[in-house]
Amino acid sequence: MPLNIRTYRDLTEPDASGLPAQIGAQRHRVAARLAQVGRVVAVMSGKGGVGKSFVTAHLARAVARGGRAVGVLDADLNGPTAAGLLDAGRASLVVEEDAVLPATGADGVRLVSMDLLLEDGRPLAFRGPAADRFVWRGALEAAALREFLADVAWGSLDLLLVDLPPGLSRFEELADLLDRPPAVLTVTIPTPESRDAVRRALRAAMERGATPLGVVENMMGDQFRGDAAEVLAREFGVPVLARVPFHPPVGVWETLAARL
Ligand SMILES: Nc1ncnc2c1ncn2[C@@H]1O[C@H](COP(=O)(O)OP(=O)(O)O)[C@@H](O)[C@H]1O
Ligand SMILES: [Mg+2]
Repeated sequence: MPLNIRTYRDLTEPDASGLPAQIGAQRHRVAARLAQVGRVVAVMSGKGGVGKSFVTAHLARAVARGGRAVGVLDADLNGPTAAGLLDAGRASLVVEEDAVLPATGADGVRLVSMDLLLEDGRPLAFRGPAADRFVWRGALEAAALREFLADVAWGSLDLLLVDLPPGLSRFEELADLLDRPPAVLTVTIPTPESRDAVRRALRAAMERGATPLGVVENMMGDQFRGDAAEVLAREFGVPVLARVPFHPPVGVWETLAARL
């Protein structure tokens, strides 16, 4: 396990009292690591299973095919899927003395994901007493995101896509670590339930200063009914950037990539 994830439990007294300073130092490292990254875009929905990771991976591939350097940071630390979606083997993540080099996936997309670090099926480990598990789980995940951002040497990228898990907390942690809030690309399926979850997530992100780029409607077709994408686009004054059916033709991704 190359990541040295420190939890509060690991910190000795002087360390623990210096925690804000350590986090401040880590923010500087994050800024240095991202200095050559043109743009950070968080892919968000507020709801699981709507295709964030699917859209992120295929969009990244199309951007790469178009000649731009693109990275994917899979920030779903509990349910990482990026390596599978981008055909990256575990061995491809290179850990050097002072940096982790991203793996290279399909079409040359650079990626970092927990699934490149964890053994198959193994969850992010928690080392404390079982009773503390729920409290520490969040701290551990936030720490892992910080480590990723502080340690990964992406090199020069035109675009870094951050594939977020459902919910809002990982977005907040990401925004805390970056110099300025990331732009947000939202993915929704057509249903009212998805619309409401995305609305909440996007409002929260905008309260943190994030710029909404637009909405991707995924799983469009007969299976799901609704006009979530249009409604959200209208409410937030952003475009519907793509409508993605089940098993979309490759042209869908090329078009979406050209709009980012
Ligand atoms: N447009 C699509 N066509 C076919 N399968 C899709 C499509 N979008 C998502 N999927 C599949 O649906 C499942 C959930 O998608 P995923 O990207 O993991 O969702 P999320 O990241 O939002 O939780 C995955 O198995 C994914 O491959
Ligand atoms: Mg996902």
